[in-house]
Amino acid sequence: MVRNILVGGQYGDEGKGKIISYLALHDKPQVIARGGVGPNAGHEVNYKGKRYPMRMLSCGFVNEKARILIGAGVVVNPEVFLNEVKMIGGDEKRCGVDYRATWLTKEHIERDKKETASAIGSTNTGCGPAVMDRAKRSAKTVSECPELKPYLTDVAKEVNAAKDVLVEGTQGFMLSVYYGTYPFCTSKDTSASSIAADVGLGPKKIDDVIMVIKSYTTRVGGGPFKNEISREEAEKLGIQEYGTVTGRPRRTSLDLHWDDLRLAAEINSATMIALTKLDVRFPSNTHVKKFNDLSNEAKEFVKKIEKEIGVPVALIGTGKDAEDIIDRRDSL
Ligand code: IMP
Ligand code: MG
Repeated sequence: MVRNILVGGQYGDEGKGKIISYLALHDKPQVIARGGVGPNAGHEVNYKGKRYPMRMLSCGFVNEKARILIGAGVVVNPEVFLNEVKMIGGDEKRCGVDYRATWLTKEHIERDKKETASAIGSTNTGCGPAVMDRAKRSAKTVSECPELKPYLTDVAKEVNAAKDVLVEGTQGFMLSVYYGTYPFCTSKDTSASSIAADVGLGPKKIDDVIMVIKSYTTRVGGGPFKNEISREEAEKLGIQEYGTVTGRPRRTSLDLHWDDLRLAAEINSATMIALTKLDVRFPSNTHVKKFNDLSNEAKEFVKKIEKEIGVPVALIGTGKDAEDIIDRRDSL
């Protein structure tokens, strides 16, 4: 029995989708459940030559045998959900939503544009207002949405009964409404404990917490951000990124913010780090699949991360594809 959680260690967009899809294909969990806020998240996977930008369903769908679930703690936009079910092949039996999850409506999206302070740079996907209505006890749950009827399930029951479970968190630690750069943050806590609760897993049932960090730091939207470089500089370095959900240019810092990462590792109780985009930082390492084949510079970078954060770097992304990865978990 293995129950692992994956969370973001920075400001979201760490490359969680890619790591989740690798774990889905390689570890073959029976159930993959998504926690976190809702369709403000965009997780991307490149698989068999196609790019899938997922906002509601887990990128773990690439394993066709896995059951793909969304936990009670998530706010669900039925339109986005149904589109993504279609995008991954339309199999009703594969996907499920907890009947207790919050129903995100068009009204929430309208309100996000009007009510959320513009300085935060919300994705305006309605998540904040939906979370607010849930707290006010006025939100509807998805159990009232006829289009979602075929997908309604008890996710908590399913994840507790399943043999192998992988839980996908969204956003990143620095966007947590408690531990992040409040008030420039999302509307919920994004740490592993909350993600576990979102899908109905208790704190003693988690084996590994995999914290995903990118080889440099990005942030989309407003708020403090250390050692930011200009967009021109980022373009020149070939690391400028654009948001999956909103298409906005992401802000970039070449540094890893060690104090933040140490706190993130502690509060998430991270047992492993998954480091992404090492190939973007050190291009000669693209598609490398063995640690020993990395350049010295890249190896030193990995070692520095382990030393500074005190958590082993168990997975290393070296390319866009789900399979471009160094998996060191066996040697830890
Ligand atoms: P909201 O949660 O959509 O209201 O956005 C609040 C802040 O969190 C904004 O700065 C967003 O850009 C940021 N944010 C929310 N979700 C994500 C995500 O999945 N990745 C990156 N940034 C996010
Ligand atoms: Mg994203």
